[in-house]
Amino acid sequence: MKHTLKQLVPKSLKQMIRTYQGKGLERSVHLRESTRYTDIGEAGPLIIDVFSRINDIPGWFNVDDCGHFFLVLSYQSAMGVKGDLLEIGSYHGRSTVLMAKCLQPGERIVVCDAFESNTDDYYANKPSPEDLISNIKRLNQELEKIVLLFTSV
Ligand SMILES: C[S@@+](CC[C@H](N)C(=O)[O-])C[C@H]1O[C@@H](n2cnc3c(N)ncnc32)[C@H](O)[C@@H]1O
Repeated sequence: MKHTLKQLVPKSLKQMIRTYQGKGLERSVHLRESTRYTDIGEAGPLIIDVFSRINDIPGWFNVDDCGHFFLVLSYQSAMGVKGDLLEIGSYHGRSTVLMAKCLQPGERIVVCDAFESNTDDYYANKPSPEDLISNIKRLNQELEKIVLLFTSV
């Protein structure tokens, strides 16, 4: 079975994986290596260590979004895609924290929000830039990797 699956992986993808491994990039600590049969159905490290810590930040970023963002961003890094991230609409920073967790060395996240100014859509409980920074700090993100942009609408 393992042999058959390996044959299905295109050569170009195998080459990319070898390049990734050769660069010594570490596998994410938020992915588990294996799951015991009795633990199937239990949340893994991404949910226990990361999502549970952003869950009390106001926002709309849910547990599925967390898994999807993490998958896409980790996959891009694994395939050698590099560069800064841009988030338009951070609100209190729920999604920002997860995205910042996925940054690779040398990458930054640029965060853009209208904060307390009026926008076309109505948002209750609008954050100040200080609220956003404080949420990010509380989760021990490296602040030098985060660039705030204030948008006026
Ligand atoms: C749905 S919320 C974002 C949710 C957030 N990403 C989360 O983790 O839950 C949308 C955000 O976009 C911001 N926003 C709306 N219009 C904007 C504009 N024209 N420029 C910048 N930010 C804007 C709002 O202030 C609000 O914080």
